[in-house]
Amino acid sequence: MRILAVGVATLDIVNRVEAYPQEDQEIRAISQSRRRGGNACNSLTVLSRLGHSCSWAGVMADDEASRFILDQLHSVQIDTRWVRVESGGMTPTSYITTAEASGSRTIVHYRQLSEFSYEDFAEIDLQAYDWVHFEGRNPQATLKMLQQLRQQYPNLQVSLELEKPRPGLEQALPYVDVVLISRAYSMAKGIADARQLFDHITPMIRQALCYLAWGEHGSWMLDRDRGVHFEQAVKPAKVVDTLGAGDVFNAGVIHALFEWLDPLEALRYGNRIAGEKCGRDGL
Ligand code: FRU
Repeated sequence: MRILAVGVATLDIVNRVEAYPQEDQEIRAISQSRRRGGNACNSLTVLSRLGHSCSWAGVMADDEASRFILDQLHSVQIDTRWVRVESGGMTPTSYITTAEASGSRTIVHYRQLSEFSYEDFAEIDLQAYDWVHFEGRNPQATLKMLQQLRQQYPNLQVSLELEKPRPGLEQALPYVDVVLISRAYSMAKGIADARQLFDHITPMIRQALCYLAWGEHGSWMLDRDRGVHFEQAVKPAKVVDTLGAGDVFNAGVIHALFEWLDPLEALRYGNRIAGEKCGRDGL
């Protein structure tokens, strides 16, 4: 499959600690690593390894970190021809603490770079793709992108991630085929139950399939024809690193839907590879 993902790439500075510190405490990290992150690029990395032809559409700075990011993307064969470079910009950076004891990952993100715009998107030759995935940022621009995409290519497969609540993002829902929702989104909406979340989302979607990843508990799917399904989380022998598990879940669902056209298999596959990912360091 040829897939385009619209979203961000970040520099992730990951400090691994034994246990998460208390406020105002000083502790030593066990190790430190520098990685290329960002939801869209993380999902593309997995999709590329699963054999798909992947392109990333987003904004990059022109600093040293952005050269590292570009090298990392190219090393996993992710095409960057639609990337806009913002001269003088600074690479969005996440300072991440991963705790050995719990497997948690706490992220402090700093961003000072423009978002991929509708004008940037309008330059893309969408005919070259079978699937377009949106990270779900910049609500007004995302809506315009989707409206244009639907007008020109009504049959292109489209997925949208709802990771964080962003005012107006739900307006894009009627234009997509697959919605990938995170626990963080649901909690921010004050909804701590999958069925309630699906009740909340249903009036806003058309025929879209909805997937919801709920960390260590498992994941859910809403299929308009067949109702709600749940898969228990696949737990690794030891939780080593949960950073990007949601992005792996999304990649797994997209891959499986395209390959096997079976929504329930897609839930199982996404759930399984996200669980397996938590048992290993990195993607
Ligand atoms: C993980 C991740 C990190 C990045 C952060 C951005 O899902 O994409 O790689 O730093 O989230 O929100």
